[in-house]
Amino acid sequence: MNSDSGQYHRQGIKSVSVKVQIRWMIRRDMAEVLRIERESFEYHWTEEDFLCCLRQRNCIGMVAEVDGQVVGFMIYELHKTRLHILNFAVADDFRRQAIGGQMIEKLVSKLSQQRRKEITLEVRETNLPAQLFFQNSDFVAVGVLRDHYEDSAEDAYVMKYRLDPEDAMYNFAPHNRIAKYEKLADGLHEES
Ligand SMILES: CC(C)(COP(=O)(O)OP(=O)(O)OC[C@H]1O[C@@H](n2cnc3c(N)ncnc32)[C@H](O)[C@@H]1OP(=O)(O)O)[C@@H](O)C(=O)NCCC(=O)NCCS
Repeated sequence: MNSDSGQYHRQGIKSVSVKVQIRWMIRRDMAEVLRIERESFEYHWTEEDFLCCLRQRNCIGMVAEVDGQVVGFMIYELHKTRLHILNFAVADDFRRQAIGGQMIEKLVSKLSQQRRKEITLEVRETNLPAQLFFQNSDFVAVGVLRDHYEDSAEDAYVMKYRLDPEDAMYNFAPHNRIAKYEKLADGLHEES
């Protein structure tokens, strides 16, 4: 990343980027965070959801600012060996300007070989833009959680980023619907 030149490079793709400041979330950010949350998700968190989460000792909020305006936020949890993203959005008017990417880079900079080596998250099966964004940020899909969401009964893809890219698929055991259907199909062939 080269914020001085205003250009941002990842995987050989160059996009227009704005200069953001990334800092911890504070109580005063809540109104702007809630506005971004509501415009970003059909099933959005309430203020109480945010506060309840941020009261946990292992839960952290960060925001991205442009000219003093909050344009993105991320809530994540600290676990022993990984960071887990719980909620993350960039304001509609500021998307595709590498702000989300810069927030992910900030999170990646918190990983270390000694302790937390990976970042995990769940993304709705219908949220293709976010899946493409995380794929572009070097996350890989490692599993499916069936009927994960109470609101829409959608499945979730579990996506993971690892400091050692070679390890990304380590421990990957296919446990998803395609594997299940393949098994079912095999069974049917054997029967016929
Ligand atoms: C996902 C999200 C945070 C990405 O933020 P962003 O600031 O727009 O992302 P960036 O500009 O850093 O995107 C980097 C790259 O990711 C990919 N990408 C991002 N949004 C994409 C989209 N809508 N469609 C396809 N690819 C996309 C592109 O490769 C993009 O590079 P490019 O613009 O040079 O083509 C944002 O779209 C968002 O807030 N979505 C709604 C909330 C949400 O779904 N959150 C995730 C929940 S798990």
